[in-house]
Amino acid sequence: MSKCISGFSKLTKEEKLEWLLDVFFDNQKGAEEDLKKFWNQDVDFQKVFDGFSENTVSNYYMPYGVAPNFLINGKEYCVPMVIEESSVVAAAAAAAKFWQTRGGFHAKVLNVRKIGQVHFYWSGKPAQLEALMPQLQADLLAGVQDLTSNMRKRGGGVADIQLRDMTIWEPGYFQLFVEFETCDSMGANFINSVLEEFARILQDFIGSHTEFEGDEKDVDVLMSILSNYTPDCVVRCEVQCPVEDLGSFQGGMDAETFASRFEKAVKAAVVDPFRATTHNKGIFNGVDAVVLATGNDFRAVEACGHAYASRSGQYSSLSNCKIEKGIFKFWIDLPLAVGTVGGLTKLHPLAKRSLEMLGNPDATSLMEIIAATGLAQNFAAVRSLITTGIQHGHMKMHLLNILNHLAATELEVDAAKVHFRNSVVTFKAVREFLFALRGQQPKLSPNQLA
Ligand code: MEV
Repeated sequence: MSKCISGFSKLTKEEKLEWLLDVFFDNQKGAEEDLKKFWNQDVDFQKVFDGFSENTVSNYYMPYGVAPNFLINGKEYCVPMVIEESSVVAAAAAAAKFWQTRGGFHAKVLNVRKIGQVHFYWSGKPAQLEALMPQLQADLLAGVQDLTSNMRKRGGGVADIQLRDMTIWEPGYFQLFVEFETCDSMGANFINSVLEEFARILQDFIGSHTEFEGDEKDVDVLMSILSNYTPDCVVRCEVQCPVEDLGSFQGGMDAETFASRFEKAVKAAVVDPFRATTHNKGIFNGVDAVVLATGNDFRAVEACGHAYASRSGQYSSLSNCKIEKGIFKFWIDLPLAVGTVGGLTKLHPLAKRSLEMLGNPDATSLMEIIAATGLAQNFAAVRSLITTGIQHGHMKMHLLNILNHLAATELEVDAAKVHFRNSVVTFKAVREFLFALRGQQPKLSPNQLA
């Protein structure tokens, strides 16, 4: 039987599910139960979720956690985080608490420009078009007055339009390179609509200009689309304190040793792309979790962050550390195109609650909060790596997950925590410990035996 289908999107949700179960699952009843278990009982509510995407047959849960005690620019926050990886929220919360008593996070948005491009092919001479740019710019701006009027009222709009001659890379290839300010929205729809209008105006402008003849009157617009690379939409976030105020660390490590090892660990990520990728992944553990919790586009944020990390020509750390005159400084510069209006921010009930929990920030404050969470996450990860090692913390969570799986009582959990302080956590070891404690042979389900 073919596993392909045409007209799938036209089927009802039930029909889609029925086909899926029929074609791809052996245990159809079990799969149906699992997929339907996550449907929301409130039909209208479920419709909202189905409307976010296409061909939806279920909902996919992610844990929604919070990291309290973030002090950012003197203001206290409890940061919502959506992430499936254990230890991340705990690590963010621990780092937030650590810095709360050392002045907190200091964040500042450096600039807020976003980019869009009209890519086009044209056979005329670049200098001719360059000379007409002031006129073309005026036509472009005049032609999008209606489209931009609301954004302009809010203080944003089109900030700059340049012609880019790309013919050294590809014969006949040009771009309109456009800068935007989109206030509290991420701005993707606004930017793309303006760009598509710009493309039409460009074609009319060149087509009707007396200076151009024959083929020169034709502009082949390849595409009009925002760029997710926003190196001029950047937030800087920093923590700092005298080295001696860092305190002491696990295993008896003193503040000075810690600071020096921390600086070296960040340096490793600055100079080595292999380490930088993991280091930055740790930063995005925090960044993505807040981006997701607030209904923003984590793919855009990730793509941009990694491009920015390569801006020198070599992929490098997004954070930096230095010890200067006895002061430990740790900071990050992060490009972030996020919004607090538009998109899912008000449509997703939990994104809306996340923003409420953060005091309904504007887009720049949200950038600061996200950067602080990324920096906190990075601090926590590097602190673990250079002191106890990362498995120490992970194993604690792992232990709790295993105990949970084995339906341990509160008393058993407490006993296990003490026992496994100094012994290796494996599923087998925890199971044996628990059953010894219970003084009985277990009745295990097949997956518990695995
Ligand atoms: C794990 O999700 C993230 C870390 O690997 C980050 C790092 O190594 O810095 C712990």
